[in-house]
Amino acid sequence: MSQASRAFMDRLGLSVPIVQAPMAGFQASALAIAVGGAGALGSLAGALLTPQMLRDEAKAVRAQAGRPLNVNFFCHQPAAVDEAREQAWRAALQPYYDEFGVDPRGIAAGPARLPFDDAAAAVVEELRPEVVSFHFGLPSPGLLERVRRTAAQIWSTATTVDEALWLEAHGVDAVIAQGLEAGGHRGMFLTDDITTQLGTMALVPQVVASTRLPVIAAGGIADAGGVAAALRLGAVAAQVGTAFLLCPEVTTSALHREALASEAARHTALTNLFTGRPARGIFNRLMRELGPMSDLSPVFPSAVTALMPLRAAAEKAGHADFSPLWCGQNARGARRVPAADIVRSLATMSESR
Ligand SMILES: Cc1cc2nc3c(=O)[nH]c(=O)nc-3n(C[C@H](O)[C@H](O)[C@H](O)COP(=O)(O)O)c2cc1C
Repeated sequence: MSQASRAFMDRLGLSVPIVQAPMAGFQASALAIAVGGAGALGSLAGALLTPQMLRDEAKAVRAQAGRPLNVNFFCHQPAAVDEAREQAWRAALQPYYDEFGVDPRGIAAGPARLPFDDAAAAVVEELRPEVVSFHFGLPSPGLLERVRRTAAQIWSTATTVDEALWLEAHGVDAVIAQGLEAGGHRGMFLTDDITTQLGTMALVPQVVASTRLPVIAAGGIADAGGVAAALRLGAVAAQVGTAFLLCPEVTTSALHREALASEAARHTALTNLFTGRPARGIFNRLMRELGPMSDLSPVFPSAVTALMPLRAAAEKAGHADFSPLWCGQNARGARRVPAADIVRSLATMSESR
């Protein structure tokens, strides 16, 4: 293990160089507490939590002695609704509405993915997590300064070398290099061109060589060999998401668990259909028939709304045809065991080297 990796762990009080990926909509304090107890960095994902929910979950983690905490936020610019695009999207979905007997006029807005704002900054000021990490760039300078004044380390995701350099120029303390293999949303923010996106093994050493920042490798890391390889490429730690998705501490739905544990998880793709931004999930009917990348889907995060009744109807009938089944390319590390066991199996080889 490199000196940089050791220093990174010591600064946060970690005993293993592993960060549990924040996973909005899939986890809260139970996962963060479990992985924290196993010596890794536990995370909370703020994007789908109200400030009060986030406060309660962070307090639950804080109630455990000696657990450092990462609180994560999306920082997209909420776009105004584009009526023409919304109508085109609903027209594309009309055959499915007909199939499931859904009246699209009655669709209410669903839970929105919230960007980091004043209320979230107030929670950070109150709970003072050791790390605040961002996806989709950084918030406004004023909000970022409020985070900095809490003494939290500030991290953000880079999917290209350009994004890593941009983040370094804007004063982050570490960068999460997210390779193309990763499950969930791509944190890309300087480009929306998915042809720029590199695999973890290509991205990590380039970011290490181009910046002076500690680099946390993410994407496709699902076993001890993967963690060791990330450290060899110069990363100080690995951020792991998909490998936790079958754990009892995670709120993955039954249909999603079934897909993750089946042959279906061997087929993933980037898709913008479910939210409006590219994210990796298990290939399903909607992706096959409309995309998986399509100009039709409204801007992030409003694409969610029109799909909600279809998702609900299909799930009721036992199908995940319209559900976002977020999953990285490497689901082999996902097992139905407590999260602490996943941390231990990720850590074994990296500790012994
Ligand atoms: C179900 C799921 C939800 C995710 N949600 C978030 C999130 O809320 N914030 C974030 O920064 N990253 C999120 N990610 C991306 C992870 O931070 C990380 O890049 C990814 O999980 C690493 O690749 P892996 O899934 O192959 O381990 C999510 C990933 C998954 C699988």
